Amino acid sequence: MSHNTFGHLFRVTTWGESHGPALGCVVDGCPPGIAFSEAELQTWLDKRKPGQSRFVTQRREADLVRVLSGAMPQEDGTTLVTTGTPISMMIENTDQRSKDYSEIARRYRPGHADFTYDAKYGIRDYRGGGRSSARETAARVAAGGLARKIMADVKIRGALVQIGTLAVNRDNWDWDSVDDNPFFCPDPECVPRWEAHLDAVRKAGSSVGAVVEVTADGVPAGLGAPVYGKLDQDIASNLMSINAVKGVEIGNGFHAATISGEDNADEMRIGADGEPVFLSNNAGGVLGGISTGQPIVARFAVKPTSSILTERRSIDADGNEVDIRTKGRHDPCVGIRAVPIGEAMLACTLADHYLRHRGQTGRV
Ligand SMILES: Cc1cc2nc3c(=O)[nH]c(=O)nc-3n(C[C@H](O)[C@H](O)[C@H](O)COP(=O)(O)O)c2cc1C
Repeated sequence: MSHNTFGHLFRVTTWGESHGPALGCVVDGCPPGIAFSEAELQTWLDKRKPGQSRFVTQRREADLVRVLSGAMPQEDGTTLVTTGTPISMMIENTDQRSKDYSEIARRYRPGHADFTYDAKYGIRDYRGGGRSSARETAARVAAGGLARKIMADVKIRGALVQIGTLAVNRDNWDWDSVDDNPFFCPDPECVPRWEAHLDAVRKAGSSVGAVVEVTADGVPAGLGAPVYGKLDQDIASNLMSINAVKGVEIGNGFHAATISGEDNADEMRIGADGEPVFLSNNAGGVLGGISTGQPIVARFAVKPTSSILTERRSIDADGNEVDIRTKGRHDPCVGIRAVPIGEAMLACTLADHYLRHRGQTGRV
């Protein structure tokens, strides 16, 4: 009945709450002999960690990841090599302020998971949202770092493509500029507009939604398990499992419903090396639930943070009608920090399918 695990061969179980002593994950099924380091994993965690700009939550967490099992330290003192046994990784919580949350111990924040956790379990860790908090996603990012090492030739990247109604200009897309601004924005011209908009949102104690795009280049053709383990199905499911995600698109997604079959066809030719070439990628790199060899492209919509300073109507656990302002430290646009989380979920999904494809067909 518990669902804290995803993946089949690259199997990730996360544990821990926002305000407990620590959180982490166990990755089971990682092949032996893969070299990695805690520092490499840390680069991905650093992208997700809070407090890095005025546009994200001011909670101060170092988010240092420690590998507790499943890897042998090498003589250089930094390299770890997987042994094929469960890899346990832990991240300590160091900046909890549970007092911030005492007011919502019995009150349900509109748009958050308070009401549904009580309805389901009858008990709720209200400190920072407990397990419904996106702090849990730090563990996914650690697992994603490991997943990337399994597919050394696959490049997984993410970018924020829209904040509220302000979308990037795709003609300006520059992957190299994504890490040069606090938004993971691929369009340098868009950055000042987003800064001004988010400053206004933040000062008003409000919040705003966003759209994240994640891609994977170098994925071989053949990954995916029709008909109930399709690659696009699992990507969508795993992206949808991220907190605050309300929609997922693969390739041209909902736009496909608006264009003709002619325009949507990803036509094919034979390239100079005799290999198939697609003339477009509306499919987002997946056909029939199997990767085509083209880049995998997925987007997901993140709702505005439910914790806002403006009073909203709600109820409490004792059946009273109440008005709630959510104090505490919150991300005004959770879509920003969702970028590395989306990358991690794509990495874990692809690593899992990579191993499943190899297991079934002996290829890759
Ligand atoms: C990176 C990230 C940070 C988040 N931070 C907050 C936050 O500070 N305050 C908040 O109310 N929700 C935050 N959320 C969203 C909640 O975790 C989420 O809305 C809540 O668990 C309810 O689940 P649902 O929106 O998926 O239905 C965050 C989400 C992400 C991805």
